[in-house]
Amino acid sequence: MTDIEIKNVFKIFGANSKAALAMAREGVEKSEILSRTGCSVGLNDISLKIGGGRIFVIMGLSGSGKSTLVRHINRLIEPTSGEIIFDGNNVLDLSARDLREFRTRRVSMVFQNFGLMPHRTVLQNVTYGQRVRGVSKADANPIGMKWIEMVGLSGYENKFPHQLSGGMKQRVGLARALAADTDVILMDEAFSALDPLIRSDMQDQLLQLEKNLSKTIIFITHDLDEALRIGAEIAILKDGKLVQVGTPHEILNNPANDYVARFVQRRAGVIPHA
Ligand SMILES: Nc1ncnc2c1ncn2[C@@H]1O[C@H](COP(=O)(O)OP(=O)(O)OP(=O)(O)O)[C@@H](O)[C@H]1O
Ligand SMILES: [Mg+2]
Repeated sequence: MTDIEIKNVFKIFGANSKAALAMAREGVEKSEILSRTGCSVGLNDISLKIGGGRIFVIMGLSGSGKSTLVRHINRLIEPTSGEIIFDGNNVLDLSARDLREFRTRRVSMVFQNFGLMPHRTVLQNVTYGQRVRGVSKADANPIGMKWIEMVGLSGYENKFPHQLSGGMKQRVGLARALAADTDVILMDEAFSALDPLIRSDMQDQLLQLEKNLSKTIIFITHDLDEALRIGAEIAILKDGKLVQVGTPHEILNNPANDYVARFVQRRAGVIPHA
């Protein structure tokens, strides 16, 4: 089980990041920092402990910093300031070689825009993580086929990404991340393009992975019902800041402010983790 700790992370996008960082530290609003420096505040002093072996959900409006936050965990983005501690190690200390190893063995990701390799088939995309680790084709293919079946794409294993619909591409991204069999899976709106039936099946799959294999899953969603259903804990971001973090129960019953209250206005169904 892998614990992750985010420590005082700021991420400023833009050329004049020093001035913008100083303003963010002083508590100047994101919109004012943008108009005065041209910099966009992606994350503003985020500190979070993400316990291993559970599903941790990140919610917030578009532009609130969700993708920016998860991309720090596998160092696709480096912080302007702060640290990311993964299983006791600072990911910023990894050498280029260790970082490649880290991304193939420790953490896999489902990208918001799918991120499939266009010249590889569905099966080759799905087994990519296994293959770069040195697993033979004969061993990797059955694993790939298992996950292709699990996401409902049997029969499409030899197609190329351009031959698939958006929701199908999303399922390939999902199968690829699951087939990689890492302890940690980052899922950036991984279910957003799925129709309700398969979405609900995939939610069940994730709950099974959490229960049976103790995977640490960091899951971004816009959908409150989904967050409540699968999240052991939920973090809510606004303008790059952490507004509240808590169990589904806490978020529903004690929203920290109006912004959170607006998210939870629509009532939820079952809360297995409560
Ligand atoms: N590469 C970049 N260059 C400049 N600004 C960026 C970059 N990536 C993100 N930002 C800014 O950082 C902020 C957070 O963006 P982010 O993509 O993390 O939001 P999000 O919560 O994932 O939104 P969505 O729900 O639309 O995916 C936004 O203000 C955005 O403009
Ligand atoms: Mg995003």
